[in-house]
Amino acid sequence: MLRSSAVGWWWRPFTEVAEAAVFLIDLAPDAAHEARALEWLSVTERARSRRFVHAGPRRRFTLCRGALRAILCHRLGCDSQRLTFGTSSHGKPFARVDDMPEPISFNVSHGRSHGLIAVAPRGRLGVDIEERRAREDLEDLADAVLGPNEKREFGLLRGDARTQFFFRMWTLKEALMKALGLGFSLDPAEFEVPIAVRRGATTGTFRFPDRPRVLWRVDDLGTEDFAAALALEPIPDRCGSSDG
Ligand SMILES: CC(C)(COP(=O)(O)OP(=O)(O)OC[C@H]1O[C@@H](n2cnc3c(N)ncnc32)[C@H](O)[C@@H]1OP(=O)(O)O)[C@@H](O)C(=O)NCCC(=O)NCCS
Repeated sequence: MLRSSAVGWWWRPFTEVAEAAVFLIDLAPDAAHEARALEWLSVTERARSRRFVHAGPRRRFTLCRGALRAILCHRLGCDSQRLTFGTSSHGKPFARVDDMPEPISFNVSHGRSHGLIAVAPRGRLGVDIEERRAREDLEDLADAVLGPNEKREFGLLRGDARTQFFFRMWTLKEALMKALGLGFSLDPAEFEVPIAVRRGATTGTFRFPDRPRVLWRVDDLGTEDFAAALALEPIPDRCGSSDG
């Protein structure tokens, strides 16, 4: 039986940004946590968990989905059996209680050892987490992900600063693409992180060049352990934001 909870066995409050609460999920191997999370999942979610060939992705999905269920049930005041998930045309999940869509907004991201879940009463949001690591394909990735100004700035950096900059840009962009619900069906090289944030500010505002109506808030949530970002649609801007 799921005891809905804002704080749990493998998740804990991480930070708050405006109306959004962000939770940090511990994805370290733990058979007891995984067994507990599996008990809370729906039949469909358990089948999805079983379809993962490798233990790592299976564990990350199961622990994140279990924590998501606990956090949402706590906020919505329902038990886990009444909570189901639908998905948008590009796969972004939304919550239903008793088959009725709920306005609550949430987004999930899994890294290797940590996940993040962001939740807000309404307004679109996206979250992303990546554990930074030196990658042989960093140059190719940067080429595919960064816009012209970002590429120039990346080109001036060396060593660790280069890796840090890349993962910062990557998570900020992915959080924005996930907030919009389009993910990588958008080309991340076609928009740039606001200049102040590129230069180190931890928060800023952003408009997609081809969807300028919504002024998004972006926050760098990175720590020593990982790069992470949140993108949030401020609630006063919600009116008529459906094509934003
Ligand atoms: C969204 C996307 C960037 C996530 O990439 P990822 O490497 O799996 O990254 P993360 O771990 O950060 O995020 C995974 C979570 O994002 C959420 N998600 C899935 N699709 C999403 C979307 N379109 N927008 C926002 N969030 C999405 C899910 O909660 C997922 O976790 P879950 O399946 O365990 O619940 C990537 O899946 C993508 O680009 N999807 C869209 C592609 C598309 O257009 N598909 C169309 C057919 S469905």
